[in-house]
Amino acid sequence: SDQSAFETDVWTLTRFVIETGRQAKGATGELTQLINAMLTAIKAISSAVRKAGLAHLQGLAGAVNVTGDDVKKLDVLSNDLVINMLRASYSTCCMVSEENKELIVTPQEKRGKYVVCFDPLDGSSNIDCLASIGTIFAIYKRISEGEPTEKDALQQGNNIVCAGYALYGSATLVALSTGAGVNFFTLDPGVGEFILTERSVRIKPKGKIYSLNEGYAKYFHPSINEYLKHKKYPEDGSSPYGARYVGSMVSDIHRTIAYGGIFMYPANEKSPKGKLRLLYECNPIAFIIEQAGGLATTGTQRILDVQPESLHQRVPFVVGSPDDVNEYLSFVKKFS
Ligand code: AHG
Ligand code: MN
Ligand code: MN
Ligand code: MN
Repeated sequence: SDQSAFETDVWTLTRFVIETGRQAKGATGELTQLINAMLTAIKAISSAVRKAGLAHLQGLAGAVNVTGDDVKKLDVLSNDLVINMLRASYSTCCMVSEENKELIVTPQEKRGKYVVCFDPLDGSSNIDCLASIGTIFAIYKRISEGEPTEKDALQQGNNIVCAGYALYGSATLVALSTGAGVNFFTLDPGVGEFILTERSVRIKPKGKIYSLNEGYAKYFHPSINEYLKHKKYPEDGSSPYGARYVGSMVSDIHRTIAYGGIFMYPANEKSPKGKLRLLYECNPIAFIIEQAGGLATTGTQRILDVQPESLHQRVPFVVGSPDDVNEYLSFVKKFS
């Protein structure tokens, strides 16, 4: 019967979040509300991304953000969607966005106990050429009493309660972790629900792909160029690695989790702390990568151990299959 084509007991992300939420001790359902609000924003962004060309949503918004990026129209739309959906969930006390210089404090009457740091649209330099883009978020419990402060957002990644990314690729996928492994959910546009498509995702111990912008090679620390030389001209009889770089971190990270290998956005002479921002790019991705069995380092310490000092601070970022990241760290030791 054609019913076989239509699952009747399907694991939607909403159902998964409710199940997880109920298992959490003292669960009030607030985290469930928060994650569902983020998912609504992601579905709306997915729809906007796929209509961008038709709805004149491509191109510049005519502003530069606090980290010096040209802001695109879709950056603004995505940012507004996330802020409005999260605010309406009554579960946040404050938020940090790539597109807002200051802490976004939730109006008193709408406050809850969570803090969300997010990159509403990652890889926005790729919008106009139709390469995949994404959304990244990390959720923490507030630590302040009374008025929310920046301290609520300047927590180590170790304190993350839940983190995830959305990838607006050939399909729209959400990777989510609440600290008990990583699950992948794929959007069924016909139903408008995210369906569980891969449980307890594990990254390979070692891959065959390296991923970074080699256009900065002139400015890299020797440990990077020596590591890359070893990947291209191995002297130990091993095979050279393949190279893949989209320039949208969510795409490059998702491929690294799916196929194995290493992703790097290292420091360079022009950007001594690299480019990627700790609160809403590096910490959430590091959390997910570690939950999938991978490693995430600045080159000198675990990403999740970094004590943040400012909302938009950058850190050097090397993540992926444990054997590959450890091999890179051996070059840091040899050449520092
Ligand atoms: P965003 O679009 O949110 O500003 O992030 C872009 C980031 C990240 O997605 C990607 O890995 C990196 O910029 C690419 O930077 P380069 O163009 O310097 O390689
Ligand atoms: Mn940007
Ligand atoms: Mn980004
Ligand atoms: Mn962004």
